[in-house]
Amino acid sequence: MDGRTFFRAFRSGGGSGGMSELVRLDNVSKVYQGGITGALNNMSVSVEKGEFTAIMGPSGSGKSTMLNLVAGLDRPSSGTVAVGGTNLGNLGESALARFRRDHIGFVFQFFYLLPNLTALENVLIPAQLKGNDANVRGRELMEQLGIPDVADRYPARLSGGQQQRVALARALINNPTLLLADEPTGALDTKTGDQVMELLGQLHRDGQTILLVTHDAKLATRHAARVISVMDGKIVDDARLESPERAPSEVIRVRGEEASR
Ligand SMILES: Nc1ncnc2c1ncn2[C@@H]1O[C@H](COP(=O)(O)OP(=O)(O)OP(=O)(O)O)[C@@H](O)[C@H]1O
Ligand SMILES: [Mg+2]
Repeated sequence: MDGRTFFRAFRSGGGSGGMSELVRLDNVSKVYQGGITGALNNMSVSVEKGEFTAIMGPSGSGKSTMLNLVAGLDRPSSGTVAVGGTNLGNLGESALARFRRDHIGFVFQFFYLLPNLTALENVLIPAQLKGNDANVRGRELMEQLGIPDVADRYPARLSGGQQQRVALARALINNPTLLLADEPTGALDTKTGDQVMELLGQLHRDGQTILLVTHDAKLATRHAARVISVMDGKIVDDARLESPERAPSEVIRVRGEEASR
């Protein structure tokens, strides 16, 4: 189902509690050890399968915390996080690790490739954790992402954009239910960042559910169909965009200067 079809389906099917709900946060709070105020404060939100959602907000507003909880990398202090109907709070550590391996692809601002493995070897790590030989798929993915020629190179010899595409291929190798991206263009120049966002848009059109944290209102509104604004660990706005290319000022309640602090 392409983005547009999905959007209509979503509209007519109503919001929360729909059949295709993929992520659900119910009254989620997170207080880090030593933290004075909560990083997340009683946050509730649901994300449908197939959605491309951007999360925006000032530095320290809780965006990464939110993503890490959805990824099962961390646990909430209270409230529940469910992905695909599974309450992550019910999973022990090894079940949670399996959940991440099987359902989550994560892309970070600084790529985090292993320096002593080639690009292709990096891409294959999550598949190897599953015991799968994914060599062919790995090369196909690299081809699809426009980097077939760097398969045998080491990360140090790749540009930032190439490294991020390797990281994206690694995130996708196990066909994740959910792709999470925390400022994936934050360390890239504008042109390279645009290319990476184009790739995310393409993946979304092919049906991938994506949760993206970004500081860039322009990129968010160009590619995502929904923009959630977060401040002080709370959702202060949740806008679904009818059409792409809507003026960022129409949908972003958190101003750019605040967001990029
Ligand atoms: N591991 C941690 N231990 C203690 N406090 C933390 C930890 N991680 C985040 N925090 C605090 O929680 C709050 C939310 O942080 P978070 O990283 O989620 O913000 P963010 O919106 O991703 O910010 P940025 O845009 O700078 O990446 C901040 O006040 C931060 O200092
Ligand atoms: Mg962050």
